[in-house]
Amino acid sequence: MESPRESPDVPMISMKAVNKHFGSLHVLQDIDLEVGKGQVIVVIGPSGSGKSTLCRTINRLETIDSGTIAIDGQTLPAEGRKLAQLRSDVGMVFQSFNLFAHKTIVENVMLAPMKVRKKNKGEAHAAAMKLLERVGVANQADKYPAQLSGGQQQRVAIARSLAMSPKVMLFDEPTSALDPEMINEVLSVMTDLAAEGMTMLVVTHEMGFARRAANRVVFMADGAIVEDAEPAQFFDHPTSDRAKDFLGKILHH
Ligand SMILES: Nc1ncnc2c1ncn2[C@@H]1O[C@H](COP(=O)(O)OP(=O)(O)O)[C@@H](O)[C@H]1O
Ligand SMILES: [Mg+2]
Repeated sequence: MESPRESPDVPMISMKAVNKHFGSLHVLQDIDLEVGKGQVIVVIGPSGSGKSTLCRTINRLETIDSGTIAIDGQTLPAEGRKLAQLRSDVGMVFQSFNLFAHKTIVENVMLAPMKVRKKNKGEAHAAAMKLLERVGVANQADKYPAQLSGGQQQRVAIARSLAMSPKVMLFDEPTSALDPEMINEVLSVMTDLAAEGMTMLVVTHEMGFARRAANRVVFMADGAIVEDAEPAQFFDHPTSDRAKDFLGKILHH
């Protein structure tokens, strides 16, 4: 069967009428979201609005109750080998870096390519060093995670995700656990990735990043997408009361 992979018109992420409940909580409500190839989408909204759950359904860390999610034209199956493969197309970076404490920085980046992609040690090491170079921490390769700053660890976490050559990168509040002086070094790696054409969905309240790097801002409240607009339009002229109220709070604190 020919896959529609090569078509430039196929969105990289496509969510159609996606619903999910946690018990009586309707955490994702009829979500329709398309992210084109190479696009950067920033997702913002109050705590508890479903942003993390949205990310987690895209790589099937969470199942959905109804609707469809497709990555590069391939509908996510419920389970099996195909799911594992599609999931490895989607890299994810969390607020907490989750590096393996007892492995060195370079070993952390080599691990998945060796296990999942069956790369040999030499290949994996060379690729890992290139990625560490790219995120600016190659000189820390033989240290352990606890010896690095939070900003450095988060950059390693990004390198580790990139080591699987994902088609899409999801970032869930990647800078919210960092001290202020380390936020920019992580955002700058993300801005570079965006400029290189990576498709990205980024949950963040960093408005400078959103204005600089995002094609669109998606505003969520109570499990629904309330606004979906270009950054300048969204920040300067939000249309819903929910978004106006939310922006008022984050701009004036
Ligand atoms: N595994 C879970 N079981 C039950 N409720 C959950 C679970 N994960 C998240 N929730 C609830 O779903 C809602 C949305 O959570 P989340 O997606 O983490 O929001 P956000 O990332 O926007 O803060 C919250 O009310 C949260 O308490
Ligand atoms: Mg969250």
